[in-house]
Amino acid sequence: MALVSSQPIDLVLSDVKMPGINGLELVRQVHEFDPDLPCIVITGYGSPESSVDALRAGAFWYLEKPFEQGHLDVVRRLAEQAIEHGRLKHENRLLQNQLETRHHFDSIIGDSHALRRVLEIVERVAATDSTVLVTGESGTGKELIARAIHYNSPRASRMMVTVNCGAIPEELLEAELFGHVRGAFTNAVSHREGRFAMADGGTIFLDEIGDMSMNLQVKLLRVLQERTFEPVGSSKTQNVDVRVIAATHQRLAQLIEEKRFREDLYYRLNVIPVEVPPLRERREDIPALVVHFLEAHAEKNGMSIKGISPEAIEMLCRQPWPGNVREVENLMERMVILRREGEIGTEDLPPEYREAADAPSAAAGLALAADGINLRGELEAIEARWIGEALKRTNWNKNQAAQLLQMNRTTLLEKIKKYGIERA
Ligand SMILES: Nc1ncnc2c1ncn2[C@@H]1O[C@H](COP(=O)(O)OP(=O)(O)OP(=O)(O)O)[C@@H](O)[C@H]1O
Ligand SMILES: [Mg+2]
Repeated sequence: MALVSSQPIDLVLSDVKMPGINGLELVRQVHEFDPDLPCIVITGYGSPESSVDALRAGAFWYLEKPFEQGHLDVVRRLAEQAIEHGRLKHENRLLQNQLETRHHFDSIIGDSHALRRVLEIVERVAATDSTVLVTGESGTGKELIARAIHYNSPRASRMMVTVNCGAIPEELLEAELFGHVRGAFTNAVSHREGRFAMADGGTIFLDEIGDMSMNLQVKLLRVLQERTFEPVGSSKTQNVDVRVIAATHQRLAQLIEEKRFREDLYYRLNVIPVEVPPLRERREDIPALVVHFLEAHAEKNGMSIKGISPEAIEMLCRQPWPGNVREVENLMERMVILRREGEIGTEDLPPEYREAADAPSAAAGLALAADGINLRGELEAIEARWIGEALKRTNWNKNQAAQLLQMNRTTLLEKIKKYGIERA
């Protein structure tokens, strides 16, 4: 055992009966140390430890005593085979490890320059413990990027704990993040561990960080600075070793201006900014994503879709994709379920998509006057028109209208007031 643990060894050849330790036990201990190291056990003829026991203990093979003339060749060949087997097992394990880490990159589809640049940053920051801020429009793949960072980091074997700061009511979020002690508030009947404690040794992913209240932002800032916090209702400080990845689809600079996001927290989070570009800025990725999601959903639903016509792909490449990759995925799922089999053509695409592809691009035919334009005024006029459209379409259901516009409800209400939009 001292030899095995102190230098590289190719093969263990061991007797069963030895002073101090039984050969089978030795095999077990060797494998605890190095599971790929091959062992050959020499069993005595008629001994209680049979050859089967040796194999069960994990030996590569066994040799029976007594040795005879000509036995030496057998031993030599067996040793060669055992060493080769150990080498392959070791190599296999290395490859398997590589596959597992590569895996999370492989699930990110796309080969555009813009996406490759993002993935290069991801690969480089993954190895570090630096805080990362992932930004980008809704559905661009921010969570996917956060996962890729964690699963390619030295913390990969520990947990990545996700907290959606936008989905948890403000009053509960603090306890969710930091835990609480018994009696901390009305329903706190027992002590509960928070997400930061759960993520100890691993990564915490704070999604929709822009939705966090100013009050909690102060507490988060402290964790980022000192890696300490107190559970709700407790004065006992806890230490935590976490890597923080935050994400938001909101423009934090704007929230800072509106005094809804702390500037000091922003700088603490934005150590490594990763900006995931919207799909319309990397249209080269669209065909691969379309095919990927078609195949994935056809398989999931057991449908035999043969593929998609080049014309249909071309039409899809001209879409604005405000919902980004998620919109592509949802559309492809819908196509698979409606089409069921055969090849998807342009006629299968929903009318909105056919129309959008026909419409001239927003920037077509622009003529800038010599004295320029009031861009802000122009944009506001367009915004007001779309809001009016969405309200009309949803019969003034503001939740639905906000969804159609991919805007949060509060913003929508503010804008309705600002533009003085009224129900006809
Ligand atoms: N490059 C990509 N390759 C494959 N799938 C992707 C890619 N980008 C995004 N997706 C998929 O699209 C969906 C949306 O991605 P994700 O949830 O990461 O987006 P998000 O930016 O976090 O969106 P939101 O802001 O709405 O939370 C997921 O199902 C994700 O797996
Ligand atoms: Mg997300």
